[in-house]
Amino acid sequence: MEGVIISTDIRNEVSKAIASCPHDKLFILTDTTTQSLCLPLIEDLDCLSGSHHISIGPTDEHKNIDTLTAVWSLMVGYGGTRHSLMLNLGGGMVTDLGGFAASTFKRGIPFINIPTTLLSMVDASVGGKTGINFNGLKNEIGVFNQPFRVLIDTQFLHTLDSQNIRSGYAEMLKHGLISTPEHLSELLSFDIEHPDLSKLGEMVGRSVEVKEKIVESDPLEHGLRKALNLGHTVGHAFESFALKKTPVLHGYAVAWGLICELYLSCVKTGFPTSIMRQCVQFIKETYGAFNITCDDYPTLFELMTHDKKNTSGSINFTLLSDVGGIEINQTASKDEIYEALDFFREGM
Ligand code: GLY
Repeated sequence: MEGVIISTDIRNEVSKAIASCPHDKLFILTDTTTQSLCLPLIEDLDCLSGSHHISIGPTDEHKNIDTLTAVWSLMVGYGGTRHSLMLNLGGGMVTDLGGFAASTFKRGIPFINIPTTLLSMVDASVGGKTGINFNGLKNEIGVFNQPFRVLIDTQFLHTLDSQNIRSGYAEMLKHGLISTPEHLSELLSFDIEHPDLSKLGEMVGRSVEVKEKIVESDPLEHGLRKALNLGHTVGHAFESFALKKTPVLHGYAVAWGLICELYLSCVKTGFPTSIMRQCVQFIKETYGAFNITCDDYPTLFELMTHDKKNTSGSINFTLLSDVGGIEINQTASKDEIYEALDFFREGM
């Protein structure tokens, strides 16, 4: 497992991490947003002098093969070798795409992730999942490959708008649901409307710990790591569905997916209805509505059948029997999924 370092001194951590990874060329990948908001915090460091900066378009719509090709081409053009190093400074799109570019360039060069969004701090940058979207499907192409280091500095939270705070917070809620009642109650009682960013920074540490422990025990997702997919079977379908009309942030789709999957958890694995209702209330207040109609169910169901976790034709879910009561490898019939979508639609 990679070293995840949580610090309030990103400049020092970047210098130390780069010094401990000998390299010939250094590439810094940003998107245009982190180029202007985050790169200035570190770009004058001595350890970055002579590095090659590559900037890509922001948002998930750029997480595709064309962007990847452009990044590979620049790495070749700048004379990259298999002894080069990549520094990914950005949200999940940059760390996923940059991690994949690094993992495949000359059969793989090391990479360091510096997550700048809440989503990327608590989820995307940690755990070694890299990749791109393909043919309208999220993260369809990619590899598991652990970063050399993940350097988290919560001062980057100050660069985020409230939508991006909320998006990352959905993954934190998921970590609460799969860990302990205390962790979940702290999350459900946090004032996300007016977030205290120093308190949120402390909560990031606890959230990352939940993920790290799980990834350490099952890095390649053969078993327990599937717990981290709670909310994502339906969430990814919502996200891919929205891509065709108005894209939504990943965490919003996950939060809405959690509503459906907590409903399935109540029906199929005995999750307490009262806790499900508390979570649904929080999600409705925080993430608002995602409008679907019954006519959309076949498309959403079809999208769920493409989920990477599925085996032999059945749709794979991670459900819960209680907070922390993880039930991996659950399935649900089409009727049960439609019922969960009814519950979602009627509650919006
Ligand atoms: N985002 C879920 C995982 O890293 O496994």
